[in-house]
Amino acid sequence: MILGICGSPRRQATEHVLERALSMLEDDGLETEFFTVRGKNISPCRHCDYCLRNKECVLKDDMFPLYELLRRAAGIIIATPVYNGGVSAQIKAIMDRCRALGAEDYDSLRGKVGMGIAVGGDRCGGQEPALMQIHTFYILNGVIPISGGSFGANLGACFWSRDTLEGVKEDSYGFKTLKKTLGMFKRFLDSEGP
Ligand SMILES: Cc1cc2nc3c(=O)[nH]c(=O)nc-3n(C[C@H](O)[C@H](O)[C@H](O)COP(=O)(O)O)c2cc1C
Repeated sequence: MILGICGSPRRQATEHVLERALSMLEDDGLETEFFTVRGKNISPCRHCDYCLRNKECVLKDDMFPLYELLRRAAGIIIATPVYNGGVSAQIKAIMDRCRALGAEDYDSLRGKVGMGIAVGGDRCGGQEPALMQIHTFYILNGVIPISGGSFGANLGACFWSRDTLEGVKEDSYGFKTLKKTLGMFKRFLDSEGP
C-alpha cells in the first residue's frame, strides 16, 4: 500500500496534486491510502518520553490512525505546502510524533520507499528546502528517499501554485517533476532500482 500524507489544512493545491499522484499510482495497479491533516487534531511532540517507557504515544489524537497506516505502507508520499521555506507545522508535528513509532519498533519505517511533493505560492519559494526536510526525515528513519533524478526533478516534485488551486493545475512543469519522481518511486517499489 502506498500512503499519501497531505500537509495542508485546506482542500486546495497540495491536496489536488497528491490526489493526482495517488490516482496515477492506482492506474498502475497500486493500492493507495490518502491521509490529510485537514480537520485533524495532531499535537506537537511534548518530549515527555512516555513513548520510550510505554511503546506508544501519550497523546491520544488523530496521529493514531496515521501510525497504523504508516506501519502498513510499503511506500510513503509526503506532500507539503511550503511555509516559510520549509514544511508546514502539521507535517513537522507528524514527523516528530513518529518518535513513538521508533520507540515501539526501531525498524518501523526501515526499508520503506519515500518521496516528497512541495507546493509553494512562489516560483522559488523554498520547495527544495522543504523537500530536503522530508528527505532528512526519511534518512533519519531508515526510509529510502527518492528523488526524480537529474534533468528535471532533482529532489522530487516541486509545484508553483501562485497561491491558488487554478494556479497549480496550470503548472505543467510541476506535473512533469511529479511524473519523473513517481517513475523513480515505482522503480524502487519494484526493487529494480533506477
Ligand atoms: C504561513 C504560510 C507561509 C507560507 N510561506 C511560503 C513560502 O515560504 N514560500 C512559498 O512559496 N509560499 C509560501 N506560502 C504559500 C503557500 O505555500 C501556497 O499558497 C500553497 O499553495 C499552499 O498550499 P495549499 O493551497 O495546498 O494550502 C505560505 C503560506 C502560508 C499560509
